[in-house]
Amino acid sequence: MINRRIVLAARPQGHAGLEHFRLERTELPPLAPGQVLVRHHYLSLDPYMRTRMDAAKSYAPAVEVGEPMVGRTVGEIVESRHDRYSAGELVADMGGWQEYAVVDATVKGALNRLDTARVPLSAWLGPAGMPGITAWIGLHKFIEPKAGETIVVDAASGAVGSIVGQLVKAAGCRAVGLAGGAAKCAHVREELGFDACIDYKAHRDFASLAAALDAAAPIGVDGCFENVGGLIFDVVLSRMNAFGRIALCGMISGYDQPAAPIANPKLLLTQRLRLQGFIVSEHPELWGRARDELADGIASGRIRYRESIAQGIENAPAAFLGMLAGANFGKQLVKLI
Ligand SMILES: NC(=O)c1ccc[n+]([C@@H]2O[C@H](COP(=O)([O-])OP(=O)(O)OC[C@H]3O[C@@H](n4cnc5c(N)ncnc54)[C@H](OP(=O)(O)O)[C@@H]3O)[C@@H](O)[C@H]2O)c1
Repeated sequence: MINRRIVLAARPQGHAGLEHFRLERTELPPLAPGQVLVRHHYLSLDPYMRTRMDAAKSYAPAVEVGEPMVGRTVGEIVESRHDRYSAGELVADMGGWQEYAVVDATVKGALNRLDTARVPLSAWLGPAGMPGITAWIGLHKFIEPKAGETIVVDAASGAVGSIVGQLVKAAGCRAVGLAGGAAKCAHVREELGFDACIDYKAHRDFASLAAALDAAAPIGVDGCFENVGGLIFDVVLSRMNAFGRIALCGMISGYDQPAAPIANPKLLLTQRLRLQGFIVSEHPELWGRARDELADGIASGRIRYRESIAQGIENAPAAFLGMLAGANFGKQLVKLI
């Protein structure tokens, strides 16, 4: 059987482009004992994948040139040589950018069965999956919101940010988002229920963006869920209240180009702020609780979400590059069947 996959063709020197990816066809090997064959229905595209294209020091190893791009996937077992798994079961795996994966099912956590009676299959890669759990852990473990506080999140219409704001509201706080463009901001306010959303593209300098934040967060900022970095982070940092908490989740503005330095780090001292970088996979003890709460919220309709879905593995690189530039509106997925 033929498997189509996307490999890293070369490491970018600067911006990533289509030339850094290559579509390959490979013959799938016969299964060894303990292995299962998963046919992927959806591939998740996530910003961290851009950092895996570089050889720079990070919390996880880089993808080697010539190897398939890493990524989370959901799909159906089509063949099994493991007695606890059967063909037809729906599972999540780290299958990478490919149509099929041969998974060693004897490895703990390599496969997770999915309940699609209440939560649609694709949502296990978004609001009920890693991005939603990131939102839950960043907010509840690191920001620890108290009712009445103001919490700001950027990339607010995206996979993580959209869930952060809804959890902020559920905690009885004021949710302020930043997103690129009027349509995204309208969605953040009207569909996701944030109290305010700032179109950062309409405020290109510090003074203008700070004035917009002052209007949206009149008593200052108690919690910052940081996804972007750069000018946005500088402005939010400048409006943090004493003893505010910053969950440093991502700095996407610096993934595909050099990251901007923090303009005024002295504020961390003078405002006695707590800043914690975190990686969601390093908090496995919280995944079960977070996933259960998120799945309940999705099943009941309390948690809303949006998806951008590209079709076909051959379109994964373009969809990924588009997501880095903000072309996605909600969780970026690739449908593979
Ligand atoms: N720490 C962890 O364990 C962990 C886990 C998951 C995700 N993350 C991080 O969380 C962040 C969001 O990830 P996601 O999966 O939810 O992606 P996403 O928000 O669905 O998609 C990325 C979004 O980032 C925004 N963006 C890109 N470049 C920007 C820039 N220069 N300035 C402002 N906004 C920019 C774009 O939205 P606009 O159109 O609004 O600009 C784009 O749609 C990323 O930084 C990611 O690395 C961290």
